[in-house]
This record gives sequence, structure tokens and C-alpha cells, in this order.
Amino acid sequence: CGIIGYVGPRDARDVIISGLRRLEYRGYDSAGIAVVADGRLSVAKKAGKLANLEAELATVDFPVAHQGIGHTRWATHGAPTYENAHPHVSADGRVAVVHNGIIENFADLRAELTEAGVHFKSETDTEVVAHLLAAELQSADGLIDAMRAVVARLQGAFTLVAIDVTRPGEVVAARRNSPLVVGVGKDENFVASDVLAFIEHTRDVVELGQDQIVLITADDITVVGFDGQPAETARYHVDWDTSAAEKAGFDWFMRKEIFEQPKAVADTLLGRFNSKGELVLDEMRGISPEDLRRINKIVIVACGTAYYAGMVAKYAIEHWTRVPCEVEVASEFRYRDPIIDPQTLCVTISQSGETADTLMAIRHARIQGAKIIAICNTNGATIPRESDAVIYTHAGPEIGVASTKGFLTQLAACYLLGLYLAQVRGMKYADEIRVITDELAHTPQMIQQMLDGADEIYQLAHDLASAEDFIFLGRHVGYPVALEGALKLKEIAYQHAEGFAAGELKHGPIAIIEPGMPVFVVVPPAGRDQLRDKVLSNIKEVKARGAHTIVLAENGDDGIEADADLIIRLPHTSTLLQPLVATVPLQLLACELATELGHDVDQPRNLAKSVTVE
Ligand code: G6P
Repeated sequence: CGIIGYVGPRDARDVIISGLRRLEYRGYDSAGIAVVADGRLSVAKKAGKLANLEAELATVDFPVAHQGIGHTRWATHGAPTYENAHPHVSADGRVAVVHNGIIENFADLRAELTEAGVHFKSETDTEVVAHLLAAELQSADGLIDAMRAVVARLQGAFTLVAIDVTRPGEVVAARRNSPLVVGVGKDENFVASDVLAFIEHTRDVVELGQDQIVLITADDITVVGFDGQPAETARYHVDWDTSAAEKAGFDWFMRKEIFEQPKAVADTLLGRFNSKGELVLDEMRGISPEDLRRINKIVIVACGTAYYAGMVAKYAIEHWTRVPCEVEVASEFRYRDPIIDPQTLCVTISQSGETADTLMAIRHARIQGAKIIAICNTNGATIPRESDAVIYTHAGPEIGVASTKGFLTQLAACYLLGLYLAQVRGMKYADEIRVITDELAHTPQMIQQMLDGADEIYQLAHDLASAEDFIFLGRHVGYPVALEGALKLKEIAYQHAEGFAAGELKHGPIAIIEPGMPVFVVVPPAGRDQLRDKVLSNIKEVKARGAHTIVLAENGDDGIEADADLIIRLPHTSTLLQPLVATVPLQLLACELATELGHDVDQPRNLAKSVTVE
């Protein structure tokens, strides 16, 4: 899941281990390193956390080297064991390879190699690459040529990084679908799956395109296409520094990121309105206002937390623009033959910009002729690159696996998009939209108010530490908030939690309510009285069955005290903007409860930050 390669004057092992440490947040279950020094290949790998690998390196005589590769693996083909950990070495001991992604035709290649007498040591798809590369190097003119010959035989998604014992000072890498960036240093160069891996050494980055191969030496970078032709690459400077990737006194990245939300949302809104209050979205250049006026349907595709942001977006976009808007989990989208044509606008939401399910969904939409807008937090990631336009969220790097500031900034970007569509297409609710635009500018302070009340939520987490099932209820945009609240608890506290549309309660979920069961209910703001009254009935219904009710309601909303065991107060917002404040206490609750239960909040079991396999 995390990949790094290095050539330069430093001790490769230090660069690689600290790079892998910065990639830990992506999730992994084994780690390994390979270096070439004095004409010898040395490999160390270990199942489990990076600390296990470091302990191993401390006991063996691992050489000082100036070229090497490293990897943290999230198991796909084969269990997270020592044998399956990367790097994988060819039978002749000549090359070592690390890999992200899945090689779909590996079974055929493995059968062919086995037939030819190769003995496999692991169950991985990656090992075939090590053997193929070693075979090609017998006759190829250098690492690039050998890698080209290998990738021509592979199907699927992959990032590969390799070293060859006979070529000191060279690291070769190839990219198809899975991310890969080159870090440009002084007398040293890096390749990695993520800028964070080398951010402490350089912030100058060359972005590799799809189907490209790069060879780095200490002072040179050569990029070619899989066809062997010299490739054009884009170079950029990363504008955040290492401090963005450090915990700054917090116990967890997740908690730090929750507390960064006022700034992250403010940064995402910054510079998007002109002095007349009109939206100016420069990044929409790839889709003209005429294109946007022509569309007659919007489909939003995303996964996990980003999907819940998409659900909120649907309510806002349909209300403001009157364009029908569907939202769907990306993994379901292309397999059901969705109805899309050139008048469809596909909106995709992805913090990482690398989620394979989401990427495949937009590729499908593109083939059907749809225009694509991405909402993304990662500059130059695959999804924005393959979209016609992109609205970047400016959350800074999100390291905690469970998305928090990613979500709130996605919401902000979704509102911007909805307002922009309304502006371009003519607004039905011009007055309301003016109010919303105004209010949006104040949401960072409102989010701060929610954070100022963190202690109350921490006490709640403490009180709920022994609960085993949690229910979250909401209506309208409170429904995706309920789903997100439940997801956060599942992800990091490993608690059974379910979110429901409050109106569905009576159609089934109410049967599982037991005395003492915590039920969180999001109450819509004042002004939505019909909706609010229905939710109040739902609170009564669960209270009558003994639930422990925790009610999120805005300041001044009285009349809920009788049925609420605890009221979490929210600042007043328009209904559509309420998720920006109502989500915050649920994030804090999950973080605190997971801490209380002794879990690793930043690296929850079985989860990966960015899932680059379908
Ligand atoms: C993974 C993460 C989730 C995230 C989802 C979508 O499953 O664990 O936290 O919501 O991917 O990620 P994306 O980067 O596309 O927003």
C-alpha cells in the first residue's frame, strides 16, 4: 500500500524506513526493504507493523547503502505473512521488486514460469514480476527496456519499483492506475506512492502519468511511456511542509484533523467568491457554462465517507438547481448499466483521488459521454487528472484513516458546486441562496464552537464505553450525518453502529431497540417544523422503548428536554448546512471512544486510507 524508492548519498535504510513511517497511515499489515550495496542485494521483511521490521534490522547486519526500495503491504493475494511481504526477489537473486495494485493475469504468468522451472516462494501476484524482470534483464538494454517488456505482459493495476544488483545507483518504477510520484532532490531522487514519503527531503515533485516508466539515479530522472517514447511530465511544488504531517501535540492524527476543520473549511471556501458575492470557480475551466446549462441529470459517485458527502450534495443540488441528481456508491455504479449520456454531469468525490472503485466509475461515465467534475483533496491524483474539471478541497494532508476534515471540506465543496450550478443555470431561490452564501462564510466559526464543546463529548464517550450497539437517526441531510456517525464508530471503535433514516425506524429498526441502547438523533433546525416534529416523534418512540437518547439539536430548540437523556447543542444553520456542524461531535465521540477502548485510532484494523483495488 505504501511504496518508496531512493537513490542518493544518505543511508537508504534511514530514508526508506522514515518514508514508510509517513505512509503508515495508508494502512498495511507487513513491511519490507531491499538495498544494493557492494554488489550484493540485502532484503529484510516482517509481518505486522513497521516496528517489527525495525527490530529485525537492529539484529541483523544490514549494510549501509545508497539505493533501495521499501514497501508496506495491505494483503490482497495471500495472507500478511513473512513470505508474502514485499520486496520479492527473483530466483537468481538479481532483482528485488515492490508492488501496489493487482496483477489480474498473474495465475497464467505463474503457471508459465512454474512450467519453465521457477520455484515460487510466496503466494503473491508480485513475485511473478521479479522473475519476469530478471529474465528480461538477461537480454534487455537496461532497466527501462526490461521493465517495458515486463509491463507489456501484465494486466491490471500496478505500481512497480525495482532494483537490480548489477546496476548500482539506479531505481526503476512503472505506473498503471496506482499512484506514483517522483521526488526531485539535490544529488538524490525518490519515487513513492505518496508525496508524504519524501516530504522531509524535498517538496519538488514530478507527477507520473498513466502507463509511464521512470528511471532515477542520484542526479537524473528519465521518464518514458510504456511504448518507449520520451514522456511529458508535470512538475509541481508542494505547498505544505512536514509540520502538516506531524501530530503537533495531539495523541492522534485523527484528533488533530478534527480540530483543523475550521481552518480546512475556511481554506476550501477561500477565494471562491468575488466582491459581488458571486462564485468564481477557476478550476471549472474544463467545463463551460454552456456545458453546464445543457446537462439534464447529475450522478454523484463516491465511496465511504465521500459517498455520504455526496448524499448531502444531492439534497442541496436538487433543491437549488432543480436538476435531477442521483448518488451512488462507486462500486455499484458501472455494473448496473446506469443511464448516462453526454447531457449527464458526473460528479465524483474522493479525498485521495485514487480510490479504484471511484476511478473505474468515472471511466465508465466518460465512455458514455458524460462530463466529469471531481471534488478532491490531492493535487494531481488520478481521479482529478481524468476529470474535465476539479474543485480541490484545501484540507491539507489527511493522515487518520477515518476521514474527518476530508468530509467537512467535501461538504463545503459540494455546496460550492451546487451554488455554482444554480448561478450558471439561473436560480429559483435567489434569496435563499444569498442567505446560504452568507452563512457558509460563517461556518468555520460554527465548527469551532462545536470543537469548544469537546469535553462534553469526551465525557459522553467515557459514559458509553461499555455500550455495544449504537443507533444513529436523522432525516433529510441529517440522514447522511447519521450514517457518517455510525461509520466513524465502526471504523475506529469497532463498535456495532447503524445509521437509519429516522422515518424508516418504524419499518424495522425499532425492533432492535433495547433498554439502555444509545440512540443518537439529529434534529433539523428551526424553520423546518414539519420535519422537526416528525423527528421529535421518533425520539419519543425510541425513548418509550428504553433507549438512551442523545439528541443533537440547535440552540434555543426547547421542547426536547423531556425525551432527551443528553442534548448536544448546535449553532443555528440553514437545514442544508447543518451537517457541517452536526457531524463534528460524532467524530469527536468516535475518536474518544476508540481511545478509551485502547484502539489505534489512526490505523484501524483491516482498513486502508486509500483503497487502490476494486
Ligand atoms: C477508504 C477509507 C475511507 C474513505 C474511502 C473513500 O475506505 O478508509 O475513510 O472514506 O476510502 O476514500 P476517498 O479517498 O475516495 O475519499
